[in-house]
Amino acid sequence: MALPEMDHIWMDGKLVPWRDATVHVLTHALHYGSGVFEGIRCYDAEGGPAVFRLTEHMERFERSARMLFMDLGYSVEETVEAVKLTVRSNKLSSCYIRPIAFRGYGVMGLDPIPAPVNVAIACWPWETYMGEAALVNGVDVGVSSWRQRGPNAMPPAIKATANYLNSSLARIEANRHGYSEAIMLNEEGKVCEGTGENLFIVRDGVISTPPVSDGILEGITRDSIMVIADSLDIPVIEESLVRTDLYTADEMFMTGSAAEVVPVRSVDGRVLGDVGPITFELQKVFFDVVHGKLAEYEEWLERI
Ligand SMILES: Cc1ncc(COP(=O)(O)O)c(C=O)c1O
Repeated sequence: MALPEMDHIWMDGKLVPWRDATVHVLTHALHYGSGVFEGIRCYDAEGGPAVFRLTEHMERFERSARMLFMDLGYSVEETVEAVKLTVRSNKLSSCYIRPIAFRGYGVMGLDPIPAPVNVAIACWPWETYMGEAALVNGVDVGVSSWRQRGPNAMPPAIKATANYLNSSLARIEANRHGYSEAIMLNEEGKVCEGTGENLFIVRDGVISTPPVSDGILEGITRDSIMVIADSLDIPVIEESLVRTDLYTADEMFMTGSAAEVVPVRSVDGRVLGDVGPITFELQKVFFDVVHGKLAEYEEWLERI
């Protein structure tokens, strides 16, 4: 998407004008991918704008940083408040939020530890990631020839900027083949996830999704969908999936903070049994939850 320009970005403890949130060309992260980030949404919910599961996102942010020995210099409570401040200062009631921490300017070489850590939070309006029609009609996806690097190579559990080289290669290939999204397999051929989404299939009324141990990001939307499915008495199993499980699924959908809950229409040109109805049932509850229409999920909404 082309970025719209907002008023402010929070950078290293204070709000600065959008255009002043810049870095030096010798910033460590620019050369070595030494950054971690989050993607979060704020919704124009009933009762006022609300950030969906903000604390969980900032906890994951802190965990990603900690695994790379990056000291953010701010507690989770402080980054939560900084996100709220950033959204408020840009006068947005619904937006996408991008916190990032990265190794900054002053040191070169592969050892990141001596480099300073910078933290920034930006937000801007970002309507549906794959387009409104995708939420209704589903998307066509393709299994990528690029494998997801495993937990002992580029740990998917760390939401690191460097990991997204893998995702970008897959996404470029998918787009060139006319697909909206790529599905990544791990080195053993097990299904992992999309380039920025987790993945679920439905067969005979049962939902399956790859386990974290197969090498996926432990998505917050994924968790939300599992909780919602449970509340609707739809069984969910975490189990390893192979490529043909996708081809024979009755339904398939992908979840992510940016993508939300997107049905899949076809995989590698094989049209799936159906778009919905279980996907649409979950999608409807998900949108009701994020828009503050279901009181029992109020704790997932953090008001700005
Ligand atoms: C690789 C990958 N998988 C899954 C997800 C979905 O995670 P979440 O639902 O927490 O946004 C994302 C998005 O952050 C992602 O980049």
